[in-house]
Amino acid sequence: MTSSLPQSGFPQSRLRRLRESSAIRLMTQETSLSVKDFVYPLFVTHGRDVYEPVEPMPGVYHLSLDKLVEEVSEISQLGILSVLLFGLPDHKDARGTEAYDPHGIIQEAIRAIKQATPQLLVMTDVCLCEYTDHGHCGVIVDDMVDNDETLELLAKVALSHAEAGADVVAPSAMMDGQVGAIRRALDDGGYPLVPIMAYSAKYASAFYGPFRAAADSTPQFGDRRGYQMEPANARQALREMEMDIQEGADMIMIKPALAYLDVIVRARQAFNHPIAAYNVSGEYSMVKGAAANGWLDGQGAILEIITAIKRAGADIIISYHAKEVARWLNAER
Ligand code: PBG
Repeated sequence: MTSSLPQSGFPQSRLRRLRESSAIRLMTQETSLSVKDFVYPLFVTHGRDVYEPVEPMPGVYHLSLDKLVEEVSEISQLGILSVLLFGLPDHKDARGTEAYDPHGIIQEAIRAIKQATPQLLVMTDVCLCEYTDHGHCGVIVDDMVDNDETLELLAKVALSHAEAGADVVAPSAMMDGQVGAIRRALDDGGYPLVPIMAYSAKYASAFYGPFRAAADSTPQFGDRRGYQMEPANARQALREMEMDIQEGADMIMIKPALAYLDVIVRARQAFNHPIAAYNVSGEYSMVKGAAANGWLDGQGAILEIITAIKRAGADIIISYHAKEVARWLNAER
């Protein structure tokens, strides 16, 4: 950056002047976290009285609906505005039918939350991988995930979530055309005001490892590189976001967050849509694992990571840390 003002170097300029006291540091702080920035992901399962820890993600649980209701009340009391739901079905099959069953686990969970804490914004992950027996995000035809045939199912999933009362649907299958297909289904189905938060730049990432254990969604053959993005690509991520916006995305997402801060920065420069970043399971487990071993200060590392994600340009941060960060932020004042 060039400035028209005369540049003065040391010793006239001393940047430490702005760091001398806590008050002046706070006053000149460029990025602040708010509890309102967060979306808290939840894993919902069938049964009663289930509160089962997800081993690689300390503090994260599989919850049955009765426990879910207690959990969302706590989340709402912390001031968190929104949750993102993932479901563990009773039954998996080739076409992931429980994903669009009106009485599937997610549809029931939405109803339970809307009854218990109607003010909480309920977002749902729209994908098939937790519901298919092969673990892929779409329908398999000739050993490949068939893009166009999957669109119809994703549209059914999103519509069934809206019918159950979801406030926002978040398609994460990385099928071309999924946002457009879902927008049409919502509009035709009478839900023109349900927004789409598109997982637009979703990378084929090793950082989803703990989630796949948690959601039991590991592909049974091959991998997701045929549909999720190559980690080496950033320009292509902008094309993904551009296409999703053209198809009607209201919010765009970059996922994972920490290894893709450059993509968040570029998205912020290129688009005026709200940008979400998903601080994924592997990012969570890394910090929790190291902190549990005493290898780093967990709270310090977590706040630094979340601040970096916001500084890069994210408006919405989806994070398993949301509850603990909310507690720290609430205690500050
Ligand atoms: C479903 C989905 C995944 C995540 C969110 N939605 C897994 C995947 O694509 O394999 C990952 C979330 C996380 O790691 O926290 N398609």
